[in-house]
Amino acid sequence: MMNAQIMKQNIRQYIVAVRQQMAGEERGRLSQAIAARIASMDAYRNANTVLAYMNFGAEFAADILVQQALRDGKRVLLPRVNRSTNELDIYQVTDLLRDLAPGMWNISEPLVECCARVNTLEEVDFILMPGVAFGRDGARLGYGGGFYDKLLARLKHHPALVAGAYAMQIVEGIPQEDNDRKVEWLVTENETINCANNG
Ligand SMILES: Nc1ncnc2c1ncn2[C@@H]1O[C@H](COP(=O)(O)OP(=O)(O)O)[C@@H](O)[C@H]1O
Ligand SMILES: [Mg+2]
Repeated sequence: MMNAQIMKQNIRQYIVAVRQQMAGEERGRLSQAIAARIASMDAYRNANTVLAYMNFGAEFAADILVQQALRDGKRVLLPRVNRSTNELDIYQVTDLLRDLAPGMWNISEPLVECCARVNTLEEVDFILMPGVAFGRDGARLGYGGGFYDKLLARLKHHPALVAGAYAMQIVEGIPQEDNDRKVEWLVTENETINCANNG
């Protein structure tokens, strides 16, 4: 049997490469559809505090939803890689032009001098999860840092866990290890999948 880490690495390389082949215009169109689907979910509409992320490369344009959440008057939190702990620190942002600068992997991250650090994550109602590939059962493949697996392990409550991804990122048979955490909802341009129904 092939090692789970090797299988994960193969899927990462393949999906990242194919995703990169999509035209920018197409990615933008699909991202608008995904963001609109997420914004219409009860879990999003009922959320006061949203933890999201800023996309990089050819990822689903999560920044559309970050902007929308600010416009909707939600409390918006974004992660910043802490290079000494190798975990995600969470900050509240209010003004994306002022509060963000390129950080790890050139991803826009909150500036510590502009943003309040949020230590009590109990108030997070909704988490937008990034990822490279997802299964219909909610299995999630990240970039290999385990950042979100570690973040979710810190939580003592159960916020809504939602991933936005292009339909081409759905892969069946993603290896799952003990630390891997599934998403509850997987939203593509075509469908809003309740992963709990597919366990
Ligand atoms: N809760 C956790 N505590 C400690 N290490 C963890 C935890 N969750 C994940 N990791 C570690 O992070 C690394 C990457 O995890 P992996 O699931 O392969 O990456 P990703 O989730 O980014 O696809 C693994 O070595 C894994 O053991
Ligand atoms: Mg994982």
